[in-house]
Amino acid sequence: MSLFPQGSNGASEDEKRILVTGGAGYIGSHTALLLLQAGFKVYIIDNLDNSVEDAVQRVAELAGKSQENLFFYKMDLRNKDKLKRLFSIVKFYAVIHFAGLKAVGESVAKPLLYHGNNLIGTLNLFDVMNEYGCKKLVFSSSATVYGQPAYVPCTEEFPLSAANPYGRTKLFIEEIARDVQQADPEWSVILLRYFNPVGAHPSGLMGEDPKGIPNNLMPYVQQVAVGRRDELYVFGNDYPTRDGTGVRDYIHVMDLADGHIKALKKLFTDDVGCSVYNLGTGRGTSVLEMVEAFEKASGKKIPLKFVGRRPGDCSEVYASTEKAERELDWRAKHGIDDMCRDQWNWAVKNPWGYRAPEFKDQDQ
Ligand code: UD1
Repeated sequence: MSLFPQGSNGASEDEKRILVTGGAGYIGSHTALLLLQAGFKVYIIDNLDNSVEDAVQRVAELAGKSQENLFFYKMDLRNKDKLKRLFSIVKFYAVIHFAGLKAVGESVAKPLLYHGNNLIGTLNLFDVMNEYGCKKLVFSSSATVYGQPAYVPCTEEFPLSAANPYGRTKLFIEEIARDVQQADPEWSVILLRYFNPVGAHPSGLMGEDPKGIPNNLMPYVQQVAVGRRDELYVFGNDYPTRDGTGVRDYIHVMDLADGHIKALKKLFTDDVGCSVYNLGTGRGTSVLEMVEAFEKASGKKIPLKFVGRRPGDCSEVYASTEKAERELDWRAKHGIDDMCRDQWNWAVKNPWGYRAPEFKDQDQ
């Protein structure tokens, strides 16, 4: 299947080459697969700092015959010369930019690493894209740019703020993208603000595989379920929510990946300027509700312990999805039961992620 059937005024062969930075990562790999299935030629670059090449292998496996349109280069965006060399060889129609560090706690401890990696990498990308006349970009932003929202659901017009260096890199890159596009209207940029991506490819061959101790709820719950960790620490049960635990908008990674295909389609067909869209379900789920759904899907009891609130956490965050529905013709299809079923399927088939335990880091 192709987004651009023959005879339409759609993309030529050249226009089908898409660069996916960070394509070996969790969201990038799922998106790369959907891109291949939609008929694109996919060029993944990744420095493999927080991902493994095995993920790219799985993309190829699942893509079947389309894997002939998949290319992988180990590359760090901070190495501008290498990036230039790639652009001088391949003419890209658009870039989907996932590459970046994303652990909040680590960003507080190592701000220069985060600013260096996320900002310098992105500035290099903008520069090289400019130089080679590729001016269409989809960027992985995050609901983190809403900071502590005054109310919910979050609409794209909410004031922006950042509570930590990681969030600031997302915010700064959004602002840089707006400046670049304003200075040169040939640029088309779509900023996608993800809520909480969870779940896995329904085959169980691809999923999230964080290095070290997971920061986020679902990878942690998954590791408790497979016996890698003893219990879940629930961060706070005194929030003004239905059951006192934090409420978030969990979105199935396949829905999220599909949002990128819709965004790309919009870049092909409309004059988007620099547009921003929330990708969430519009529904909030508490920590305890999520744990209950995972227990149901897995048949495993998740032992838990209530501990104090995590600094910087909000009580309730969920998306307004109206703009994405209206303008991208996109809507999340999966609910939390699907998310937990697919996450569990991935966990059962890959209890240690992509690699065997002996390859895992010390802090497992
Ligand atoms: C986290 C990031 C945020 C990022 C978002 C989306 C932090 C502080 N924030 O936010 O910047 O944009 O993911 O990927 O990391 N929880 C527990 N126990 C755990 C882990 C989490 O109770 O071991 C709770 C949290 O308090 C929260 C909910 O589960 O209420 C979800 O947490 P998490 O998965 O870390 O996502 P966010 O807090 O939304």
